[in-house]
Amino acid sequence: MNLKNFITFEGGECSGKTTVIHSIKALFDELGIEYISTREPGGIKIAEQIRNIILDINNKEMTSETETLLYAAARMQHLSERVIPALNEGKIVLCDRFLDSSLAYQGYARGIGMDNVLKANSFALEKLPDLTIFIDVTPDVALKRLSGRDKQDRLDLEEMDFHKRVYDGYHKVMEMYPDRVVRIDGNQSLEEVTKDCINKVLEYLKLKV
Ligand code: TMP
Repeated sequence: MNLKNFITFEGGECSGKTTVIHSIKALFDELGIEYISTREPGGIKIAEQIRNIILDINNKEMTSETETLLYAAARMQHLSERVIPALNEGKIVLCDRFLDSSLAYQGYARGIGMDNVLKANSFALEKLPDLTIFIDVTPDVALKRLSGRDKQDRLDLEEMDFHKRVYDGYHKVMEMYPDRVVRIDGNQSLEEVTKDCINKVLEYLKLKV
């Protein structure tokens, strides 16, 4: 297994992660680089089913503990079924969210605690990402973007305070893993954010275009 191939993308709501991953995929296609692109929660059948339960706006009574465990369950299945096999085949894995989302959203914003999240995810800790791109968008900018989007899920509908805590949570995550997590200024235009992310990934993989 190549120790540099597991790359994750993190950020609060509307950080532009999905667009960035799209552009990196297009570049990898052009360069003939072998990769898979996937997301959390989801990426495979069982995890997509769990995703639907977690994000269903009707599931208002879900406790933060249950939410934490469901994300951990989806993560473990996705890791065993999709991520680890791809890494074993020597492919680069581009993953939209991973454990750091649970640390920021459940550990910090929901108040479950970072240690409890790590405990709940103990099975998944065997494979931490090699590089994490954190797109840092301040909550006011994110919320402005969010109001222009039509489909909102259970987490999108949380109050501004929650999104501010997620933001602080991500900053704690950066302090926890300074060698792995790279910060990109997400308040810039999406073109600039994309350019910065691509440059970081290329630099990390020691690729020249
Ligand atoms: P998405 O909108 O980026 O697809 O992510 C779905 C939502 O799930 C988003 O609000 C972030 C949240 N989330 C967590 O709260 N904890 C996690 O561990 C993950 C992976 C996502």
